Amino acid sequence: MELKGRDIISIKDFTREEVDHILKTAGKVDHILGENLRPLSGKFMGLLFFEPSTRTRLSFEAAMKRMGGGVIGFSEPAVSSVKKGETLADTVRTVENYADILVIRHPLEGSAKLAADFASIPVINAGSGAEEHPTQAFLDLYTIFKEKGSVDGLNIGILGDLRYGRTVHSLTYALSLYDVNLYLVSPPELRIRKEVLQAVRNRLRVKEFSRIEDVMPELDVLYVTRIQRERFPDPGEYERIKGAYRIDKAALEKAKEDLIVMHPLPRVDEIQPEVDETKHALYFKQVRYGLITRMALLGLVLGAF
Ligand code: NCD
Repeated sequence: MELKGRDIISIKDFTREEVDHILKTAGKVDHILGENLRPLSGKFMGLLFFEPSTRTRLSFEAAMKRMGGGVIGFSEPAVSSVKKGETLADTVRTVENYADILVIRHPLEGSAKLAADFASIPVINAGSGAEEHPTQAFLDLYTIFKEKGSVDGLNIGILGDLRYGRTVHSLTYALSLYDVNLYLVSPPELRIRKEVLQAVRNRLRVKEFSRIEDVMPELDVLYVTRIQRERFPDPGEYERIKGAYRIDKAALEKAKEDLIVMHPLPRVDEIQPEVDETKHALYFKQVRYGLITRMALLGLVLGAF
């Protein structure tokens, strides 16, 4: 299977076979992580980050460097010519001369697609507004696959800001390639967007809930998300909703023994620190799986695997 030269803009552009191939490649990378392999030696990645990031940017950077490649770019648009009014299209047409692959994060929906339309090198979407975050979905699937042995057959709950959370949208699309029961749990104001639900409804068994207590005993995986404060058109609404759900030890009392709790991070207060020490907490291991998955993706798109 050939993924060389592919853009990664939306998870919807990938078939089940392609996703399986990516997860299998991540599994191979996982085994050779400690070895000093440099399959991307001489290749450069251009990072264009117009929004804050810790894990996504650093894991892409670490992935590229661990495989022998170089990294250029900015993590703060204020230090680039964007500050002087340069357009995204011109920025892309400039940086592509210095790099072999571009990784972009931008507050606007459609931004990664626009970058890919202008670039002649592969573009990876590292978050396009509230729309999508496809590489997060790949690493989420890899985490589930590694911890549960398979994605098929599971009861998966996604809790939190389903309206503005881009990781939620990408993960929901990705799960529609599998045979799972999906439980979407959110305050009524933060229900998943109609267009996402419509896209998956025929392929996935989905149910919506507003209280996590009602579904906790059923779940094999609980994916918790942060309320996306920065995407609320009305700050007053954020103030009203914040703190609407919270996972603590008590909330997990009725959970299955082997429930795994995931989170794309950063968390604010939606998972209490006391949960970290329980056997359910998987979010920091998930971070490591993120590095592995991004190594696999870079290797595949740049033709090293
Ligand atoms: C997420 C994002 O940026 O969408 N973070 C990440 O990449 N792991 C989630 C979030 O910001 O809440």
